[in-house]
Amino acid sequence: MAAADNPDFITQNGLPRHIAIIMDGNGRWAQKRFMPRAFGHQAGVKAVRKIVEHSANKGIEVLTLFAFSSENWRRPKEEVSLLMKLFVETLKREISTLDKNNICVRFIGDRSAFPDTLQQIMTEGEARTKDNKALTLVIAANYGGHWDIAQAFQKVVDKMATGELTKQPISPLLVSEHLSTAGLPDPDLFIRTGGEQRVSNFLLWQLAYAEFYFTDTLWPDFNQNSLNEAINSFKGRQRRFGHTGEQILNKSASFQP
Ligand code: IPE
Ligand code: IPE
Ligand code: MG
Repeated sequence: MAAADNPDFITQNGLPRHIAIIMDGNGRWAQKRFMPRAFGHQAGVKAVRKIVEHSANKGIEVLTLFAFSSENWRRPKEEVSLLMKLFVETLKREISTLDKNNICVRFIGDRSAFPDTLQQIMTEGEARTKDNKALTLVIAANYGGHWDIAQAFQKVVDKMATGELTKQPISPLLVSEHLSTAGLPDPDLFIRTGGEQRVSNFLLWQLAYAEFYFTDTLWPDFNQNSLNEAINSFKGRQRRFGHTGEQILNKSASFQP
């Protein structure tokens, strides 16, 4: 269900239900220290651990992290292999901790491009943690917003061809239900670290009504306080979803979600 259609778009305590993050700046963080980019990616993994734990403790429902984009294959071969290796090692090491902490892990993106071993780790990790309730951690790997929308249409077309779905006009809800994020609320808060102010083909459909937060902090330096600052900025905003400010203020009287 899209946040824009959902009357419960903010939890009672004003926290975003779903935070989506483009974790950018690992390379520059390493370069500033005259170290290879790999060093920055390793430091980035440590920041991931902190932010996942902090999000679960704060009561965030869904955290989506952009780990590898469909465009990142364009990087030098050595960097791509390093990122794959880091991904495999991190998952192998962390899945049991995530499971112990009651965190449900889900991967979005075209995983068919990954080595079989990695695909297997992903599938097993999802199966092992599927009933966990503290936080849903969504890892976007070989993900692209264009890919996501295209694969949703492909699914709908295929289902209509086989009769699994009756022929019907394509509605936004039907598209949402076939995106890789089906069943999850849309992001309320979108964060990008590293100073760039662009979406880089992340959750194009799902970010329709997200609040955007950009920070110059490089991802390895992003910590619990940085996340608190982003959430505080979110709390200070008035989400109108097309309504007027007055309608939102007098919600009880006239607000029609
Ligand atoms: C983000 O950091 C991590 C990935 C894309 C995997 P970058 O590697 O893009 O870092 P910068 O932008 O070069 O500093
Ligand atoms: C986006 O970062 C992808 C991830 C963080 C995984 P990039 O650093 O690849 O984005 P661009 O290419 O600078 O837009
Ligand atoms: Mg970058």
